[in-house]
Amino acid sequence: MMTWKTTLSAVAAVFLCALGEFTVQSQSNKQPHILFIVADDYGFHDIGYHNSEIKTPNLDKLAGDGVKLENYYVQPICTPTRSQLFSGKYQIHTGLQHSLIWSTQPNGLPLEDPTLADKMKEAGYSTHMVGKWHIGFYKEEYLPTRRGFDSYFGYYGGGEDYYGHNTCSYLLKGFCGYDFRDGDKVDYQDKGNYSTHVFTQRAIDVVNSHDPNQPLFLYIAFQAVHAPLEVPEKYTQMYDFIQDKNRRTYAGMVTCMDEAVGNITKAFQDKFMFEDTFMIFTTDNGGQIHEGGNNWPLRGWKGSLWDGGMKGVGFVHGNGLTKPGTINTGLMHVTDWYPTLVNLAKGSLNGTKLDGHDQWETISQGKPSSRQEILHNIDPLSKKTGQPLRNASFDNTVRAALRVGDWKIITGGPGNSSWIPPPHMAGKTQISSEAPTKNLWLFNIAVDPEERDDISEQYPDMVRKMLERLQAYNVTAVPVRYPKPDPRSNPKLHGGAWGPWET
Ligand SMILES: *[C@@H]1O[C@H](CO)[C@@H](O)[C@H](O)[C@H]1NC(C)=O
Ligand SMILES: *[C@@H]1O[C@H](CO)[C@@H](O)[C@H](O)[C@H]1NC(C)=O
Ligand SMILES: *[C@@H]1O[C@H](CO)[C@@H](O)[C@H](O)[C@H]1NC(C)=O
Repeated sequence: MMTWKTTLSAVAAVFLCALGEFTVQSQSNKQPHILFIVADDYGFHDIGYHNSEIKTPNLDKLAGDGVKLENYYVQPICTPTRSQLFSGKYQIHTGLQHSLIWSTQPNGLPLEDPTLADKMKEAGYSTHMVGKWHIGFYKEEYLPTRRGFDSYFGYYGGGEDYYGHNTCSYLLKGFCGYDFRDGDKVDYQDKGNYSTHVFTQRAIDVVNSHDPNQPLFLYIAFQAVHAPLEVPEKYTQMYDFIQDKNRRTYAGMVTCMDEAVGNITKAFQDKFMFEDTFMIFTTDNGGQIHEGGNNWPLRGWKGSLWDGGMKGVGFVHGNGLTKPGTINTGLMHVTDWYPTLVNLAKGSLNGTKLDGHDQWETISQGKPSSRQEILHNIDPLSKKTGQPLRNASFDNTVRAALRVGDWKIITGGPGNSSWIPPPHMAGKTQISSEAPTKNLWLFNIAVDPEERDDISEQYPDMVRKMLERLQAYNVTAVPVRYPKPDPRSNPKLHGGAWGPWET
């Protein structure tokens, strides 16, 4: 209890100082409201404007009036993208470079890293979060309410069912529990309510009770459209033409989420806040082929280092954009939101050591991207693949990927490697026939966005240079944090709910 109060008053002090500054500046230099929306496992092919059979009128309209990001990258799975969004750092610099945070693991985004929400709060924003956290909860210090958010409503782990809000551990058999919170308290009131609906209602409540004179940072991380595939029937009715059951349910989930975005932006409009709002919409990773998602025509899917796992659906909307209605092809990465948004909020990057780049001029004016490279990841704990190249500076049996300009190198085992179109185009499926011991690929993504032609043999010098760059990153990596599951995490010991177990 002590720590909670101490944290609150310290945070309140910072907040008041910053608010004083804001009042002075606000006439000339207004801080925009920021609406940040994350969809879970939302595939590259699954938004209307990517020629999808799935209907997303609200997202299409917002993206059409905004700027579509079409050279934009996230990470292959959930915790990595979220940890990078909130820290502005690559996974190799937080220790979270392997897999994800399982609910039974005593793990979290290191407390030394101020979160994006901490920085927004420091800049005078009212900060609210709705939805999936997934960057650690084993101690109270790791909870969203201690990491920059004034309010929180959602679930701590990676996934659960949409109505009952229950989930069982993947690592420890029989560890099952309820994961749904309002603030720090377990919320049973919404047991039985579909998460997309309750999250939308909470987001609208936040907007309605907000004083528009204060800048608002609202972060919404939908459960949709992650497995399990569940949605109220009315949303699948328009998809009778989709034969594949998974795809049909998933399509309904997408349409429900699209409606949610429409309802939330309407709440901003009704309060005359939308003209002063900068909005970001992004997926957290590629779609999951086995759970209705699709990334056609990209190679691979969720969990892989192919572009199908990482090239994200994303767009921005807001009146700071001088080229609304355009497509932006500047190279962008999820770590870029941190400095971009903190600067846009007129906050301070003091105390941070970031891998992200401020992309405001790229996004708002179409100027060239301020980044040349993306370290997609280096994961020393994944199973090594094949034999190492002789005299190479980087061990190419290690799972890693790096982008430099248009070039992309992949080493080790990248994961699911096939080209899978949505079910109604199944004839175009192409299963990768490469040897499972293959551990090196080089692509020019500008000419070969589908990663069909490995040109590593034609460009040995480029391979050598890229391996040197990988090694230069590798020496800056911190040790991996991937602790053993802790039996004290068992929800049975905590009234049936997942929550902090260590003090
Ligand atoms: C679901 O939401 C409604 C409306 O917000 C609420 O009245 C109800 O208690 C919630 N729970 C269930 C199980 O329906
Ligand atoms: C959006 O608002 C309409 C009208 O209030 C409501 O019927 C619908 O359930 C809402 N959708 C979501 C996803 O919350
Ligand atoms: C930056 O952070 C350091 C250490 O946290 C602090 O001493 C300094 O006053 C801060 N500077 C500004 C301008 O906030």
